[in-house]
Amino acid sequence: MSEYILELKDVNFKYENAPTVEEPALKNINLKVKKGEFIGVIGSNNSGKSTLCALCNGLIPKALDGEFSGQVLVDGQDIKDVSTAKMSQKVGLVLPDPEAQLSQLTVYDELTFGPSNLELPREKIFEEADRVMKLIRLENFKERSPFSLSGGEQQRVAIASVLAMNPEILVLDEPTSNLDPLSTQEIFEIICKLNREMNMTVILVEHEVELMAQYVDRFVVMDNGRIVLDGSPKEVFSHREVFEQIKMFIPTVTSLAGEIDEEYRKWGNYEYPITLEEMIKIIDSRKE
Ligand SMILES: Nc1ncnc2c1ncn2[C@@H]1O[C@H](COP(=O)(O)OP(=O)(O)OP(=O)(O)O)[C@@H](O)[C@H]1O
Ligand SMILES: [Mg+2]
Repeated sequence: MSEYILELKDVNFKYENAPTVEEPALKNINLKVKKGEFIGVIGSNNSGKSTLCALCNGLIPKALDGEFSGQVLVDGQDIKDVSTAKMSQKVGLVLPDPEAQLSQLTVYDELTFGPSNLELPREKIFEEADRVMKLIRLENFKERSPFSLSGGEQQRVAIASVLAMNPEILVLDEPTSNLDPLSTQEIFEIICKLNREMNMTVILVEHEVELMAQYVDRFVVMDNGRIVLDGSPKEVFSHREVFEQIKMFIPTVTSLAGEIDEEYRKWGNYEYPITLEEMIKIIDSRKE
């Protein structure tokens, strides 16, 4: 077994149908992910986040045409040597639009659909469907049509149907981009529970940087096809100049601490805060 559940080595990828002048969508990508890690992928539009997701689950280079070089290893195995069916049991991909991922008459059918293509024994398929139905609390929707559900509920079904394949890594590409704040929070909590309680390895692409910072172990920051920063939230946010360059926001209180850096240093040996609560604690501790 490899130390890393996912390893991308010197990956370059240029889409086949991209205009000739266009640069590769991914350039020199190197990334190592340990089992149980929660990685947040952020970056400006067209920076290559979705392409990175397609790389993790083998769509690139298998299904999307283009110039590919480098190596993608899942649990030490080169994905070139893994069949597409096996790949779906290794890496599950959740897309922004849940409706596009759903096709069955009932929620329960949705949960058994993927596994039934894997030639598993019937009992095993139902066992898995029941397991994820409880896990994502979908019991009340069991016989409902997925298309009668709200966007947030649909995204829960989409996540559950991916989990029914029992993947080792869960990759989510902007799963909350079509959802209201309450459903967004709910999806975040589900992802967090999967990571913390079930040690699921998670790679999450999102724009909600401040919300993500509360959950992720590491941020991977992308710009123009490259990984420009990779580290804990506090580490990456300490590079304010990079975020400015790529026109991305960091959390407001982190930015504030940076703005008043000289004064902030006088307060004591505090790291930059990320949440308002942290900032309030620091201010309170100075009063004592
Ligand atoms: N199917 C495709 N064919 C050709 N070029 C593509 C394709 N998908 C993406 N690209 C190009 O690859 C680059 C990276 O796109 P990608 O979708 O990975 O970025 P992204 O960071 O996910 O952007 P967004 O924030 O808008 O979702 C862009 O220049 C884009 O135009
Ligand atoms: Mg994208």
